[in-house]
Amino acid sequence: MQPLEIKPGVYWVGGIDWNLRYFHGYRTPLGSTYNAYLIVDQKVTLVDTVKHYLAEEMLERIAGVIDPRRIDYVVVNHVEMDHSGSVPTVMELASRAKIVTSPKGKQGLERHYKKNWDYLQVNTGDELKIGARTLKFVQTPMVHWPDSMVTYIPEDKLLLPNDAFGQHIASVERFDDELGWNIVREEAAKYYANIVFPYGDQVNKALDVVEQLPLDMIAPSHGVIWRTYLKEIQRSYRQWANNESERQALIVYDTMWGSTRKIALALQSGLEEAGIPVTMRFLQTNHISNIVPDVLRSKIILIGTPTLNNGMLPTVSAFLTYIKGLRPKNRIGFAFGSYGWGGQGARQVAEVIREMGWEMPEEPINLRYVPDAGELAQVKAAGGRLAKAL
Ligand code: FEO
Repeated sequence: MQPLEIKPGVYWVGGIDWNLRYFHGYRTPLGSTYNAYLIVDQKVTLVDTVKHYLAEEMLERIAGVIDPRRIDYVVVNHVEMDHSGSVPTVMELASRAKIVTSPKGKQGLERHYKKNWDYLQVNTGDELKIGARTLKFVQTPMVHWPDSMVTYIPEDKLLLPNDAFGQHIASVERFDDELGWNIVREEAAKYYANIVFPYGDQVNKALDVVEQLPLDMIAPSHGVIWRTYLKEIQRSYRQWANNESERQALIVYDTMWGSTRKIALALQSGLEEAGIPVTMRFLQTNHISNIVPDVLRSKIILIGTPTLNNGMLPTVSAFLTYIKGLRPKNRIGFAFGSYGWGGQGARQVAEVIREMGWEMPEEPINLRYVPDAGELAQVKAAGGRLAKAL
């Protein structure tokens, strides 16, 4: 377990979670990392830790640089246990260390670990000299929890923003340019969509601060470190935080006997003929967390369900519950479906779209049993009209 010196005297000492496939509802086929950073200065400082089961891996990396008992400060940028889970292990070894965290961080750590640690509470604008370096702190509440903050080291032009700018990637590569912009951007988008999407206003406030900082490197707590595509990822975050989507459509649907699929395909045809690229996501073969990046990028979102037992199919209601919580804004929505009697499914989808505050320029389409050619032509025309709504 080797540490990696990312700047003179600053080491990546994190843990690689090769087997992680599920992260509170989010499928992570590539695994993830929990990045911890060791700063060797007059005061030895560890910024963030790793999930509890990777504590030994982290400690082995730290020991490759310095005796972990010599740690003076443990900065906890964020209490969630993927980052604080090994704080108890570190504090047992470095028993004289102080924990540096926000006031909400202290409250959170006390509730999680019930320990009487020595705390140094910091707020936005506070600085801590650790020798040749200064640690500056900026609180970034709700990116990702109320306790979240970022640590900036001006002497190294290094930002340690914890969850912000992260990606769930387990790899031997530690830097963005080693994987390439397209791969890392895609994973950063998936991460943003599944973790940070609801907090666009707070992300914008954090970006207002970050954009003023001279930056040479952004080292998040998940995935690879940004040393090449810093401007690009900040631009993408601004775009996502502002809910700026692209001129494309997403059709998400499930089907029982193929009728709702026929409607989905007719809508696709109408949109594409009007020049709108369409992503098709069938809920039986796509996990909802893999569809959310499509929600992030698409301006028009069409959602279809048959009616089952007076309601939507459970796959569709799970998708809607998930995206309602993520609060995408400025979208055009459309509900469609098929039914035998009753027909509540598509109506319920429309209700959720209204609750989310999306525009709905077209009335829902809800067709009985199997749609005929004439009905499908009308569906296709509705797709064309939706394209014009852009
Ligand atoms: Fe990576 Fe909010 O924890």
